[in-house]
Amino acid sequence: MTVNKDTNYNMMSNSRGNETNPSTIMNTKEKEKYIEEFDFPFCDEATKYEKVAKIGQGTFGEVFKARDKKTNKKFVAMKKVLMDNEKEGFPITALREIRILQLLKHENVVNLIEICRTKATQYNRYRSTFYLVFDFCEHDLAGLLSNVNVKFSLGEIKKVMQQLLNGLYYIHSNKILHRDMKAANVLITKNGILKLADFGLARAFSANKNGQVNRYSMYTNRVVTLWYRPPELLLGDRNYGPPVDLWGAGCIMAEMWTRSPIMQGNTEQQQLTFISQLCGSVTPEVWPGVESLELYNKMELPRGQKRKVKERLKPYVKDPFACDLLDKLLVLDPSKRYDSDSALNHDFFWTDPMPCDLSKMLAQHTQSMFEYLAPPRRPGHLRPHHHHQGGAGAAGAAAKPSSSMDSGYQDRVF
Ligand SMILES: Nc1ncnc2c1ncn2[C@@H]1O[C@H](COP(=O)(O)OP(=O)(O)OP(=O)(O)O)[C@@H](O)[C@H]1O
Ligand SMILES: [Mg+2]
Repeated sequence: MTVNKDTNYNMMSNSRGNETNPSTIMNTKEKEKYIEEFDFPFCDEATKYEKVAKIGQGTFGEVFKARDKKTNKKFVAMKKVLMDNEKEGFPITALREIRILQLLKHENVVNLIEICRTKATQYNRYRSTFYLVFDFCEHDLAGLLSNVNVKFSLGEIKKVMQQLLNGLYYIHSNKILHRDMKAANVLITKNGILKLADFGLARAFSANKNGQVNRYSMYTNRVVTLWYRPPELLLGDRNYGPPVDLWGAGCIMAEMWTRSPIMQGNTEQQQLTFISQLCGSVTPEVWPGVESLELYNKMELPRGQKRKVKERLKPYVKDPFACDLLDKLLVLDPSKRYDSDSALNHDFFWTDPMPCDLSKMLAQHTQSMFEYLAPPRRPGHLRPHHHHQGGAGAAGAAAKPSSSMDSGYQDRVF
């Protein structure tokens, strides 16, 4: 799957090992002709699909809906691999995403069909474009939640959360962290099957016998879109593990009712402030060991905040079991946060109304709903496109001033 000329020569010399290295004997014209005609094994041409519409624009490239020309009916999603401009060869980040997607095969994880490429010609300076090709899902959760006509019943919300946690249970069992949980990365098919998507930031983790992530594995903590970022990452933890994804799951669960992200910080500091205002002050009493995290003394941590998760979410969520589960997911100390297994065993999923199929409700909507295609969720609200950016813009209409006003922050939590 290599792109640049030099590696292509290597591929050729590998496949015909007994020949003289062709790069030394071919002239430029011959090399170009060779590349144009090279028949990549296991990597079909992207022309087998016909693009229908653009459905996503991430920092990591564009996503298109496309039709399989062979069947003319089957739809796929094609995610363009963004090439490192200066560097030669296939980007390591894309390779990592592909390796992880090849490993993960589960009903609640997006299915990678294949990798496709465009032909290298003089018109693209002999650089192919590569695409990750996925089974097409009709909606993403951010798109669905931004449409006021889409109404989830309690049973349907349970079904969404049950599938999301099943997906997390599966990937964590396979020692993969998602690291970018957010509503836009949760896909839902028209049949109501939920698929975790966007493994662009995912990585493998190793755990010791006690299930703790190994001390010496120093992961970068610049991951997870700010609004869904857990306190341990905001405080510079580099030994984080599966709980980072369960914090995101809690944020998404609350959003099923509030319909917009519950903590929309503009900076890491502000995000921590919002978290403290909802989950209570970050202290060694509630979270032993927090004092040894790298940024514990560098960030300003609001003192004397009471935990108000249930109290503040109740007006939206109403169902007491749902409030209780949220309270157990949005826990500051990652070691006390519910894991996907405990969450799946929570009464929320085992009391009436039981989780119920989404396909009937979705059948009322014939248009695909994606974050990219949705109007901004609130006036003056920028789309939260990238992980490393601050986040959204202006305060929402539903803003509720709070005690933090004087520090220049406005509480924009639901
Ligand atoms: N299989 C799919 N079916 C339908 N839509 C998809 C599929 N995969 C991705 N999308 C859409 O494209 C969007 C972007 O895809 P993805 O999240 O994988 O890319 P990304 O470049 O990493 O995005 P970002 O950086 O914004 O998170 C998704 O939010 C979703 O709306
Ligand atoms: Mg994404």
